[in-house]
Amino acid sequence: MKHRITREHSHLEDLLDALIRTFSKSGATVRGLWEPFEQFALDLESHIEQEDRLYFPAIGALSPDLKASLEALSVDHSAFTDQLRQVADHLAHEDIEGATRSLRNLDASLRAHEQVEEEILARLDSKLET
Ligand SMILES: [Fe+2]
Ligand SMILES: [Fe+2]
Repeated sequence: MKHRITREHSHLEDLLDALIRTFSKSGATVRGLWEPFEQFALDLESHIEQEDRLYFPAIGALSPDLKASLEALSVDHSAFTDQLRQVADHLAHEDIEGATRSLRNLDASLRAHEQVEEEILARLDSKLET
């Protein structure tokens, strides 16, 4: 489970890096941005859903002391869904600058969030080994 989650995090970070580069290019058009944005949004939403439905309940069952941290991470997930919606709203209004700004905010909060998740996985690992 740990490897799968960290692999998905790397994938999402790569995708988001590429997306921000695409959005920041001069000559970027709203038409050309929708598809890569939607691909990223789908992958992020599917990752979040797996964590909320599968991984977090499994981790919480193995280590009930982590439940409060997991709940806080699920609250972050709702914020990410809102941030994706903000990007989509900017794109719908042909505001590429606003969309890029929202993506950069999402990038910063997503990386911090993933770091916390990976620390939790490391704590779980060391707990299971003892
Ligand atoms: Fe997460
Ligand atoms: Fe995650």
